Amino acid sequence: MNDTFLKACRGEPVEYTPVWFMRQAGRSLPEYRALRKEGSILNAIKDPDISTEITLQPIRRYGVDAAILYSDIVVPVHAIGFGVDIKPGVGPVAIDPFRSSSDLNRLRSLNPQVDTPYVLETIQRLVDVLEIPLIGFAGAPFTVASYLIEGGPSRSYQKTKAMMFSDKSLWDSLMERLTDITIESLVSQIEAGASAVQLFDSWAGSLSPAQYEQFVLPHSQRIFEALSEHSVPRIHFGVGTGEILHLMSAAGADVVGVDWRVPIDEARKRIGVGKSVQGNLDPSILGGDWELISEEVIDILKRNAGQHGHIFNLGHGVTPEVNPDVLKRIVDLVHNFRTAS
Ligand code: CP3
Repeated sequence: MNDTFLKACRGEPVEYTPVWFMRQAGRSLPEYRALRKEGSILNAIKDPDISTEITLQPIRRYGVDAAILYSDIVVPVHAIGFGVDIKPGVGPVAIDPFRSSSDLNRLRSLNPQVDTPYVLETIQRLVDVLEIPLIGFAGAPFTVASYLIEGGPSRSYQKTKAMMFSDKSLWDSLMERLTDITIESLVSQIEAGASAVQLFDSWAGSLSPAQYEQFVLPHSQRIFEALSEHSVPRIHFGVGTGEILHLMSAAGADVVGVDWRVPIDEARKRIGVGKSVQGNLDPSILGGDWELISEEVIDILKRNAGQHGHIFNLGHGVTPEVNPDVLKRIVDLVHNFRTAS
């Protein structure tokens, strides 16, 4: 197996900077749209034939250094029957959102062999054919909670924060349940063959450092601790997290993902020594001229200044309108870059 990505996660020397893209399997690929057709993405995820093929599509096209499982952060809570779906063009929605302690009963523990066997089957099939590492993933308790409480995507996370501040004991109970579910899911993915895992706390950047520290950090810390005995690299990612990077790092991951708002050299200072960094090209420039894109790519690589422990990625996911040829050119540019150049 080509383990350049895993080496960079562990901060070991590599011959070239490894690269993969969040949401690399998705709507910017015509072959994805052809296979996905209409219908809920959750049904596509339940079919190992489809999800295996969709995971492999970007690997063939781009030559990236890691595959990411085709699944979604709400798959575990959907599987235990909370009542959440993914609306095309919108995202996860819960018709009957989480409101009070009686809703805790809707979040029983996850038994991955029974509740999400299709995820494990897809991972097993993938590791049989892949020549690069497969990244498993889960949503972090805060980000998943935000969908369950708001009932859908949100800009302000008002209901989520209201629950946090008005009923700390209910908040902690909710976070504890989601933490258990996340651990069960990630451990099962590792046991099925995933060689790294990423915890997506996509919306944690909506919190102040004090809020993050009090209401989120202890739970995310418990996840990374529970994974430590499995000795696979653990990645921790969120958007708009510039002011909490030091705390996300303290949660215990080996790699911290950075969006585009903080330059990677500055981000590395905030994350601290002994950690690897993943990022951080602004996905919204991908529609621009190649000249601008390539300058930005090179700028990130130069700012990293040849330090060990850099995985090139976007600062957030690939958006549907991105031209796949641009992503291919980025992979080639990153792979061919040498510090001296
Ligand atoms: O290629 C990959 O990155 C692997 C697959 C993956 C998906 N979702 C598939 C998907 C991953 C890693 C996710 C994680 C995920 N899901 C996150 C964390 C990452 C991030 O972007 O911050 C979040 C917040 C979600 C929740 C979610 N699911 C959203 C916001 C959406 C988009 C809604 C839309 O249609 O614009 C989804 C749906 C979804 N999950 C799509 C894909 C490829 C697109 C819709 C589809 O193909 O049906």
